[in-house]
Amino acid sequence: MDKTTKRSWAEPFKIKMVEPIRMTSRAERERFIVEAGYNTFLLRSEDVYIDLLTDSGTSAMSDYQWAGMMLGDEAYAGSRNFYHLEDAVRKYYGYKYIVPTHQGRGAEHILSQIAIKKGDYVPGNMYFTTTRLHQELAGGIFEDVIIDEAHDPTSAHPFKGDIDLGKLEALIERVGAEHIPYVSLAATVNMAGGQPISMANIRAVRELTNRYGIRVILDAARAIENAYFIQQREAG
Ligand SMILES: Cc1ncc(COP(=O)(O)O)c(C=O)c1O
Repeated sequence: MDKTTKRSWAEPFKIKMVEPIRMTSRAERERFIVEAGYNTFLLRSEDVYIDLLTDSGTSAMSDYQWAGMMLGDEAYAGSRNFYHLEDAVRKYYGYKYIVPTHQGRGAEHILSQIAIKKGDYVPGNMYFTTTRLHQELAGGIFEDVIIDEAHDPTSAHPFKGDIDLGKLEALIERVGAEHIPYVSLAATVNMAGGQPISMANIRAVRELTNRYGIRVILDAARAIENAYFIQQREAG
């Protein structure tokens, strides 16, 4: 390892701001979860010590990100920050069109309303709560096509986010490609505990869906973390 790649054991940043959180007792937690009917969405966030429901907008921002907000062009239309974002997305992702949304759930609503017709099937590698809700509000029927290992917490499979191609093809054969607007592919899979999907599986899903003319929509919530797992665990 040369000098430029060598990293300290400590994190290479200072934390300038903290938000106090309150530790609860076991008895309190048992009461809260019973009162919430075991539905984590009905818990009050102040009663949750470590909140893993989403990582969207819940973590620290860098000094550059905060400074960027101060430089924000708040124009109602034509904001220069939009063009900056558009350029960056085109450069790094290669997409021609980009529609910014405030959070993932906003994008799910728009996508579902545009793409799903009543009675359509939406296969996915498990589901995220709001993703599935928006698919169902648009009249879609969710189908879990993740590999069985994802449902086994003791399995040490390196890519528990992989799609079971047999399950996906069986669904296509059963309901017909015309009733599947897209495959909802999450990287990584929140409900499986952040498990990644392999590059080989993504390619195989693309190849299978191409044969039937079905789109693949990537939920890129943790695409960077997924890429890290691919780099660490997958040959090639
Ligand atoms: C896989 C996945 N999709 C969608 C969402 C929704 O994103 P947001 O919380 O930004 O609305 C999340 C949130 O954690 C997620 O993990």
